Amino acid sequence: MKIEYQETTNDLATRIDIHSKFGSRNIDSWMIDLIKLQPHMKILDVGCGAGKQCFSYHTALKGQAEITGGDVNKELLNQAKQQNESRKTGMCFVELDFNQKFNFPSGSFDFTSCCFAIYYALDVPFTIGEMHRILKPGGQLFTTGPMPENKKLFYEIIKEATGKPIPPMPGSSRYSTEFLSTIKSVFKSVEVHIFENPLVFDTVDPFLSYTRASLSEDRKLWGDLFSGKEGFEKVMSQIEQVAKKRLEKDGRLVMTKVVGGFLASK
Ligand SMILES: C[S@@+](CC[C@H](N)C(=O)[O-])C[C@H]1O[C@@H](n2cnc3c(N)ncnc32)[C@H](O)[C@@H]1O
Repeated sequence: MKIEYQETTNDLATRIDIHSKFGSRNIDSWMIDLIKLQPHMKILDVGCGAGKQCFSYHTALKGQAEITGGDVNKELLNQAKQQNESRKTGMCFVELDFNQKFNFPSGSFDFTSCCFAIYYALDVPFTIGEMHRILKPGGQLFTTGPMPENKKLFYEIIKEATGKPIPPMPGSSRYSTEFLSTIKSVFKSVEVHIFENPLVFDTVDPFLSYTRASLSEDRKLWGDLFSGKEGFEKVMSQIEQVAKKRLEKDGRLVMTKVVGGFLASK
């Protein structure tokens, strides 16, 4: 699959903020309960963005771990580095492109994760293979990504508003199939866990902010639905009309995040 994708700092921060304000469940606590990190582990978070998971690991282990975050996006990495400096955590944030060989020796980490990022990999077996290679024997991989039922309302509204099919998303179209089967073929054992978080909106505004931060031209995933700024605004106003009608009919908008957590052992 050709991946046309570029995350932006503002869009990622907006979506993370809406998840925490309008969802009743906390995905970081769910992850931390599942992965059972141990003090003094050596951890690599791949596609770390602004460092959300790294900071969560650091807090969970009270700083007793050697944590590295890697990402291809310099702007997001700089944000992670700034926060790291102000919190004085001593974590390390480095440039890492998961489509290239990782700059780490084989068998050097106890735990590696890739949250909401791995499905942007161009060559699935290569990236999973690199994550497997850098783990020690018995080490663990944890990934998160959207399951096919994820955000049904969001896709229904966009489809109704534009009258066009939803372009295949690198995540929901591949994560539970291509990625899961590759992880199963490379790792000794894999557990599949599901996290559901209904985001409940009593007005259309937060839903529209979420939609803007997902569809925005900068992220390049939705090019089939509009072109240019004008086209984007036209689509957004069609989406607003449909969202308002749904809200009037149902009294609220409920968009459920359905996330798969794959925990694999080497
Ligand atoms: C949706 S964000 C998730 C970031 C972070 N894990 C979080 O949950 O907040 C996806 C991340 O994947 C990163 N990414 C995309 N392609 C990448 C690549 N080839 N190598 C490393 N990171 C990549 C993006 O830069 C972005 O930070």
